[in-house]
Amino acid sequence: MPGFKLAIDGPAGSGKSTISSLIAKKMGWTHIDTGAMYRAVTLQAIEHGIDLNDEHAYSFLETSNIHYDNNKIYIDDRDVTEDIRSEAVTKNVSLVSSFPYVRKKLVDLQKKAAEKGYIVMDGRDIGTVVLPHADLKIFLTANVEERAKRRLKENLKKGKHAEIEHVIKDIATRDEKDSTRKESPLRMADDAIILDTTHLTIDEVVSKIIDLTDKKENKHGV
Ligand code: CDP
Repeated sequence: MPGFKLAIDGPAGSGKSTISSLIAKKMGWTHIDTGAMYRAVTLQAIEHGIDLNDEHAYSFLETSNIHYDNNKIYIDDRDVTEDIRSEAVTKNVSLVSSFPYVRKKLVDLQKKAAEKGYIVMDGRDIGTVVLPHADLKIFLTANVEERAKRRLKENLKKGKHAEIEHVIKDIATRDEKDSTRKESPLRMADDAIILDTTHLTIDEVVSKIIDLTDKKENKHGV
């Protein structure tokens, strides 16, 4: 079956979502932002008022329908694209995504969503757990100050102000939690290509990844 699976992983603010979305647009592929899915579960958990530390309390996932479609994330039919960026969600998402039950539910959904066609999927464990046989795996990095500056700019565009020190602390804390958790921590796959984006523009990163994709596709003859 024709298709291509492009896995993009990296720490908070490394540009995964922006870059994956642009690649998908340019290539006419489907983009799946798995971070948005973990954020949606966190939002739902907060709204249900459950004890966020109790793994059993996430059983609401048995009946909820979370899906990412065309740059938007939905819980059932409700578009929660904006709501998942709240401070409360950002603060708690690393805790929520550390539970094996939550990960199993979302990883199953992600594997299913990536079954057919040309897919760009971004997250923390795509190359290692969700798509271990991806055609191309990219690991994006950038130093923490640069990542904080990007997040600050993104927030400003939405009219949200924050101190750079606060953003650096938030990113560093999340990196630490995501890299040290027991269940599928943030880790570079052995066969991933590392791209340090600290001194690269978004367009430069997008072009580099598209070049690498073209080379792989030609090699595979798809
Ligand atoms: O804020 P940023 O865009 O960098 O993060 P995100 O991609 O929206 O992901 C939010 C959080 O979800 C991460 O900090 C991880 O705790 C979790 N996550 C995960 O555990 N596994 C994934 N595949 C994607 C996200």
